[in-house]
Amino acid sequence: MRVSPAIVSAGALLGASMLFAGASHASGGNSANAANGKALYQTYCVQCHGVNGDGKGINAPHLSVQPRNHTDRTEMSARTDEDLFKAIKEGGQAVNKSVLMPNWDGNMSDEEIHDVVAYLRELCCK
Ligand code: HEC
Repeated sequence: MRVSPAIVSAGALLGASMLFAGASHASGGNSANAANGKALYQTYCVQCHGVNGDGKGINAPHLSVQPRNHTDRTEMSARTDEDLFKAIKEGGQAVNKSVLMPNWDGNMSDEEIHDVVAYLRELCCK
């Protein structure tokens, strides 16, 4: 499923400003970079999941299934990193969730998705 261009460009603007504000730079090694994940999250995810990751994005009222609250430690702790990775890469349907959760394999590399997963772990569990 694709998100409408208007939604994405609003997110991209926000994301760009975050990058300028920003703490993030790609790390040299293999370990996931949560700061880069945060910048990606601010670009692609906040319109549904909310700027604070609480599931209250600007699009949430228009969705028949509510976006996951990524700050919900109990729910998020019940997911493995692989579950989260798959949901992001292949979309909600791949993990028996709503098709309203888009697939992001066209927008992000596997490495970038790992960075986003690292950021989700900061959101929920730190
Ligand atoms: C168009 C709105 C929308 C966008 C944009 C979106 N999501 Fe979602 N997402 C959803 C919805 C709705 C669900 C809930 C699906 C369900 O519970 O069936 C969801 C669920 C998820 C889940 C699964 C949570 C669980 O319960 O296992 C993850 C992980 C996730 N989103 C991450 C992301 C990330 C990371 C991004 C940005 C790259 C993103 N989402 C962008 C709507 C969106």
